[in-house]
Amino acid sequence: MNILVIGGGGREHALAWKLAQSDKVGKVYVAPGNGGTAIDSRFANIDVTGVQALAAWALSNRIALTVVGPEAPLAAGVVDEFRKQGLRVFGPTRAAAQLESSKAFSKDFMKRHGIPTARYETFDDAAAAHSYIEGKGAPIVVKADGLAAGKGVVVAMTLAEAHQAVDLMLGENAPGVQQSEGLDGAQLPRVVIEEFLAGEEASFIVMCDGKNVLALATSQDHKRLLNDDQGPNTGGMGAYSPAPVVTPDVHARAMREIILPTVRGMEKDGIPYSGFLYAGLMIDALGHPKTLEFNCRMGDPEAQPILMRLKTDLVDVLLDATEPGPHGRLDGVELQWDRRTALGVVLAAQGYPLQPRKGDVISGLPKDAEDAVVFHAGTTCRDGVTRTSGGRVLCVTVLADNVKQAQQRAYEVALGIHFDGKQYRTDIGHRASRN
Ligand code: AMP
Ligand code: GLY
Repeated sequence: MNILVIGGGGREHALAWKLAQSDKVGKVYVAPGNGGTAIDSRFANIDVTGVQALAAWALSNRIALTVVGPEAPLAAGVVDEFRKQGLRVFGPTRAAAQLESSKAFSKDFMKRHGIPTARYETFDDAAAAHSYIEGKGAPIVVKADGLAAGKGVVVAMTLAEAHQAVDLMLGENAPGVQQSEGLDGAQLPRVVIEEFLAGEEASFIVMCDGKNVLALATSQDHKRLLNDDQGPNTGGMGAYSPAPVVTPDVHARAMREIILPTVRGMEKDGIPYSGFLYAGLMIDALGHPKTLEFNCRMGDPEAQPILMRLKTDLVDVLLDATEPGPHGRLDGVELQWDRRTALGVVLAAQGYPLQPRKGDVISGLPKDAEDAVVFHAGTTCRDGVTRTSGGRVLCVTVLADNVKQAQQRAYEVALGIHFDGKQYRTDIGHRASRN
């Protein structure tokens, strides 16, 4: 069978890499793909939110299964359109994807269903937001409603920072304004202002089939650009799996208090959830997790180490998850994981995250090995030359017996790859290796 992966980042390269290992698969197409996946130049300029064109392409190329990587096509209704056309697809509908695409929706949902998260209020009026901040004090967190590609969150350590964030987010041309329409058609920019949570973060990613839940291996991302979690927020500079902070007890709590009530709640609200569901957790000193956010997709770069550890045939799992009917058959699936640690280090372009430079020639790319794969993200490959074409360029992902050895191996590989302006953190996995 032929499979389509929608997206063009490192996560999609990892999905395609994993899917291609199945003996059931003929071709894996990745749209738009990148320099590591490209097999078809027709996709080079494809718009991943052009859901009708994507469905028409999938129909005419007899695609048996489609997996959606990023949030934008999900929020644009790609799953609704594919299902309407009778195409098998793994991902949430547009309505269900609001768990990510609208912070106001997800916070209201969590409140209604008693899912632990930071206390919050939603505002469309700047004066009211300012006076709420005065009443609460700092630190406090200000979030733009709508998809803002990770740039819509300000963790304000001072009152001045919090006020400035409100001015930016509720002003004209604010990020998220265009996308915060929700399904009710409201056009007002909104901010969510929430309590600051202290603790350690982890990424908790599961697969859902409308009813059943299957947890993936645990992982932890590194959101800040620089070592020691300094510098601006990014899409993620590296990740590893498993994440020791998610002890069996934390895992059980996260399932019981967050994931299962979410999936049941969505079903009860008439918006059953299928697809990857990613809860960003903040785990406090007592091991109690709270939900920072939901994403309706796998994390990037978390997907790279997670998929590298997955031993089970992902095609089988996705076919079970998308079994036609009221819900899938994930209840009958058990995933097998490599016991080793997987660790991925992102190599980013100069200027990332603000203004990444493009067009630099990449050299020294190694061949894939059993224990080391370089997943591409912002790259193009033309006439045998691979160049940078985006902020996060590559993710060097390795398997090793423990975190320290994984770090050693990943940084060895990273050192051998060259492009002008290459920047990366040298401490990925530091929380797991500090003891
Ligand atoms: P989000 O997009 O909501 O996950 O926020 C991006 C990052 O901001 C998170 O990964 C956290 O590091 C931080 N953050 C978000 N909300 C909070 C909060 N309530 N308390 C502390 N940090 C937060
Ligand atoms: N790595 C964080 C995310 O995918 O949102």
